[in-house]
Amino acid sequence: MLQLDVMLKNAEREILSATDMKKIEELKVQYLGKKGELTQVLRGMSALAPEDRPAAGKAANDAREKLNQLFSDAEKIISDKAVKERLYEERLDVTVPGRKQDIGHTHPLTQVIRKIENIFIGLGYQIAEGPEVESVHYNFDQLNAPDNHPSRDEQDTFYFDAKRLLRTQTSPVQARVMENNAPPIRIICPGRVYRADEVDATHSPIFHQIEALVVDKDITMGNLVATLKLFAKEMFGEETEVRLRPHYFPFTEPSAEVDVSCWVCKGKGCPVCKYEGFIEILGAGMVHPNVLRNCGIDPDVYSGFAFGLGVERTAMAVFGINDLRLFYENDARFLSQF
Ligand code: DAH
Repeated sequence: MLQLDVMLKNAEREILSATDMKKIEELKVQYLGKKGELTQVLRGMSALAPEDRPAAGKAANDAREKLNQLFSDAEKIISDKAVKERLYEERLDVTVPGRKQDIGHTHPLTQVIRKIENIFIGLGYQIAEGPEVESVHYNFDQLNAPDNHPSRDEQDTFYFDAKRLLRTQTSPVQARVMENNAPPIRIICPGRVYRADEVDATHSPIFHQIEALVVDKDITMGNLVATLKLFAKEMFGEETEVRLRPHYFPFTEPSAEVDVSCWVCKGKGCPVCKYEGFIEILGAGMVHPNVLRNCGIDPDVYSGFAFGLGVERTAMAVFGINDLRLFYENDARFLSQF
């Protein structure tokens, strides 16, 4: 009994001073293990007189229970403490100012393209697409471009070989759409085009156009002008005026260059419109009968209008930007302004 008491006292002291689970495991082995102290005491009991054994046995059992209790209490204290320590170490100071994530936004050229797309989607147009690697057939031949047309010149066009090139305009999509669809046709086609131009403030060998094509019975110049007026008002504001100047394009007859009144000075003259009061934004006209015929549409039954708009030029005017290179340099200080 005395032995058990001494052992329990020692065990209690040691268990209470243990600070980690490893120590607890060691103590368990030391006291409860096969060669542990309790086992030793129990062994010693074989030497007791038979009448003393039940009481000694009970004392030994009590001692085992007491030890188990001490261990489980200590384990709980240690693990609670460990949890507390971890919580403290991993605490978050929710008052620390957050680290700001820079979220990008739509590129100004894309903004202009989307705005124009939405205007024409609202008018029932569909969006069409065509390849940037195009054939001479679609880029020039189908569009009625004469063999000596200057845009065919190697100096203006990136050719892969005699038959393939990087499209110089989005107009070939007109031909592709007409070949594959019967009128009525109402499409716009935004896309990238390529020309062998030197880079400067208003030229880039890669730029964007938006093509429009309408083919149906009884389409007239009046429809074209009305559409352009509506587009100009939606795009640049209610007071915007539209002006058509006669021009030549191989694929339209008659053809026009189209200006809109300057939305900054309302036509009075300012740096944005270079004191002209108007800004040229697109080329347009009535689809040439040869083009309709080339694409399998009878020009005696159907007529159409088309136009092609320069996206960079429009975006420069809309945002008051004087150098188109800024669009491609990806300088966040520039882009974040729009
Ligand atoms: N494709 C012409 C260009 O690149 C623009 C153009 C003019 C497109 C008149 C048209 C149009 O559809 O009718 O300069």
